[in-house]
Amino acid sequence: ITIEWDIESAEKGGYEHFMLKEIMEEPEIIKDSSKISTSEIKELAKEMKNYDKIYIVAMGTSLNASMVAEYWFSNHNKLIIPCDSSEFLVKGIIDENTLVIGITQSGETYDTIKALKYAKKQGAKTATIVNVLGSSATREADITIMMGSGIEISVCATKTYMSQLMILYRLFIEYGLVIGKDMSKYQQEMENIPNYIKEVIGEKERENIKRIAKNLTASNYLFISKGVNLPNSLEGALKFKEITYLHAEGMSSGFLKHGTISLIDENMDTVVLIPPTKSELFKSVLANIEEIKARNGKIIGVSPVESQNIENIIKVPDVMEEVSPFVYAPACQLLAYYKAVEMGRDVDKPRGLAKSVTVE
Ligand code: G6P
Repeated sequence: ITIEWDIESAEKGGYEHFMLKEIMEEPEIIKDSSKISTSEIKELAKEMKNYDKIYIVAMGTSLNASMVAEYWFSNHNKLIIPCDSSEFLVKGIIDENTLVIGITQSGETYDTIKALKYAKKQGAKTATIVNVLGSSATREADITIMMGSGIEISVCATKTYMSQLMILYRLFIEYGLVIGKDMSKYQQEMENIPNYIKEVIGEKERENIKRIAKNLTASNYLFISKGVNLPNSLEGALKFKEITYLHAEGMSSGFLKHGTISLIDENMDTVVLIPPTKSELFKSVLANIEEIKARNGKIIGVSPVESQNIENIIKVPDVMEEVSPFVYAPACQLLAYYKAVEMGRDVDKPRGLAKSVTVE
């Protein structure tokens, strides 16, 4: 008898890489995270009402998720400050009137744990959104919320980003309820998110993204957007550079004019996350596209509309702005994935990177 498979390929469930398998799990993971016990999320939402100074400390992909939350909470007129954990001890102003939420998939990231420990020492209230029960973060936090993503093997965080977003979206809903708002449209839309993701990662769009990735020839990439998808631009660039080893930067489309636009030429492609058509930001981002094209820059649009003016379109469902981060994120993840595969990169174990950084 010849056995044609090994344990690792069996675990990959027929996919070439864990990264793709984990992206394909996202609709289910999102469902799981949307059902995880509400009690801790409610508890944190109630606490948030008691604090005017709320920091979210996180690193890497977790920090990008926390920035999406900053936009969501601005709808409630509630300020939360996302903070790179490694800078927190330098610039964080912490006392007993502060609430510090650590977001960390592993629960072991050195700088995030250090930030939580420091917050506790200064008398702040602490909470964590985490994927590993019993991890260091859970020991430093007064309130622990589990993400419910299951184990993620690829170094590149994909499905765990999505469940962080889901927990934060639920926190946004619960906070709205705490302050007496009608959150029903957000609650109803939550049910539809897995199907929206399925549209982006379905075979038809996957093939399209693969084709677009194959035709990318530039050595530098910009990822831009405006509003709640700006953090997705940062995350899109992060994913892209970490696994393709090509230079990529994310920024707001407004910021582009303040320096970076001078780099645009045939060696710099721009991935534009075009906001949903009902967004007030839709037209403004389209105007930025024209500025890039005028400088001979190639555009890859992650877009709710087909447009004759843009050659490369990754189509995403045209959804309510607040849920749009859930549909733009997998499109960027797949673009990075297919480009890295095409370049023969070690997708699941990019050089020099670790799943969890436990040193300073
Ligand atoms: C490393 C990983 C990233 C992750 C970051 C924060 O850099 O490669 O994927 O986002 O650490 O990790 P955490 O476990 O704290 O979310």
